Amino acid sequence: MRDLFDKIYRDKGPLGKWASHAEGYFVFPKLEGEISNRMKFRGKEVVTWSINDYLGLANHPEVRKVDAEAGAAYGSAYPMGARMMSGHTELHETLQNELAAFVDKEAAYLLNFGYQGMLSTIDALVSKDDIIVYDVDAHACIIDGVRLHMGKRFTYKHNDVESLEKNLERATKMAEQTGGGILVISEGVFGMRGEQGRLKEIVELKKKYNFRFFVDDAHGFGTLGANGAGAGEEQGVQDGIDVYFATFAKAMASTGAFIAADKEIIDYLKYNLRSQMFAKSLQMQLVVGALKRLDMLRTMPELKQNLWKIVDALQSGLKERGFDIGTTQSCVTPVYLKGSIPEAMALVKDLRENYGIFCSIVVYPVIPKGLILLRMIPTATHTLEDVRVTLDAFDAIRTRLENGTYKRLSAAVTAAMEK
Ligand SMILES: Cc1ncc(COP(=O)(O)O)c(C=O)c1O
Repeated sequence: MRDLFDKIYRDKGPLGKWASHAEGYFVFPKLEGEISNRMKFRGKEVVTWSINDYLGLANHPEVRKVDAEAGAAYGSAYPMGARMMSGHTELHETLQNELAAFVDKEAAYLLNFGYQGMLSTIDALVSKDDIIVYDVDAHACIIDGVRLHMGKRFTYKHNDVESLEKNLERATKMAEQTGGGILVISEGVFGMRGEQGRLKEIVELKKKYNFRFFVDDAHGFGTLGANGAGAGEEQGVQDGIDVYFATFAKAMASTGAFIAADKEIIDYLKYNLRSQMFAKSLQMQLVVGALKRLDMLRTMPELKQNLWKIVDALQSGLKERGFDIGTTQSCVTPVYLKGSIPEAMALVKDLRENYGIFCSIVVYPVIPKGLILLRMIPTATHTLEDVRVTLDAFDAIRTRLENGTYKRLSAAVTAAMEK
């Protein structure tokens, strides 16, 4: 019989196989210093474009003060136990009420982590007779949530309403046989490429098909919509979203998440969300910190204005210089280049070492082979000077990519990989 670990010794997986070339630099890099537009990487200052601190709250003095005071008042343990048993407090409830009001829903419920909460919400919303229809490019937490589902599921082509409609027709026929209902899941903003989910058109389909709509708005919350309530507000269809999800890990610069919906639905989820029923409650420091952040989202519109000033400067600057930034409709700013993985590594090294620009690099298998995606997240802490030096650096690396410099520099890596 084979040892369970044999496969691990043989194959490290699609990303793990790059570890010896990539770890500590391209993956698991250590960014040091306070979270801001400029941090340190290997002792050198870099302009940081890889942190989802959209509104610049992570290191805002008022936020830091409240976080520190809450830490001093409550420690990191309080409250102990799951919400249902002994981990419930007045402040948890206050935060839920304020979040619900902010996203214009009747009620909200806190989740310890977005990822786990999404899984669990999907799990709680469907039973085996129900059918899930979801975007094929959905975030891992949606895919993993669907994996828990015992019934049928269909994917539709990424952000393709026609494909969704075809799948809704199939799902409707199937639901008529099983006696179940249909759950459609989309993201508010797709975090890799930055397109908004086509929420408006999806909600429109409710006139023709009977389904409930669940939206993961991790990147839209706090960044889109007149009040920052996210992609649903931006597209004027918050009402048509039956269950709304956002994490605190992005615009709120913290840890935790929430779902919001009609009161009756939240009341049900409260008693059926396994990730919350069987896990310790969100700690008080995070609850108090989230109340402060939410207050700032409501009362300091300049944070979002600063963010969008940088987004506009970066995205229009890239476009003017002929870069392909795809079809982003959000702050997420992808730059697509053509090249191999070793070339991408040489390019990113050049960007970091010689131009002081730190952004995330995404390659196959996350995107198609032969493409390099440099993914940038502008924030309210960036300056127009940061944008200028970045645009100049991008011009320089594009020239070197096109004239074969990175191919030559990466020859040794390529040879080692091909062995
Ligand atoms: C679209 C999306 N959903 C869910 C999550 C998970 O949220 P959390 O980090 O709170 O687990 C993320 C990443 O943070 C995300 O990008």
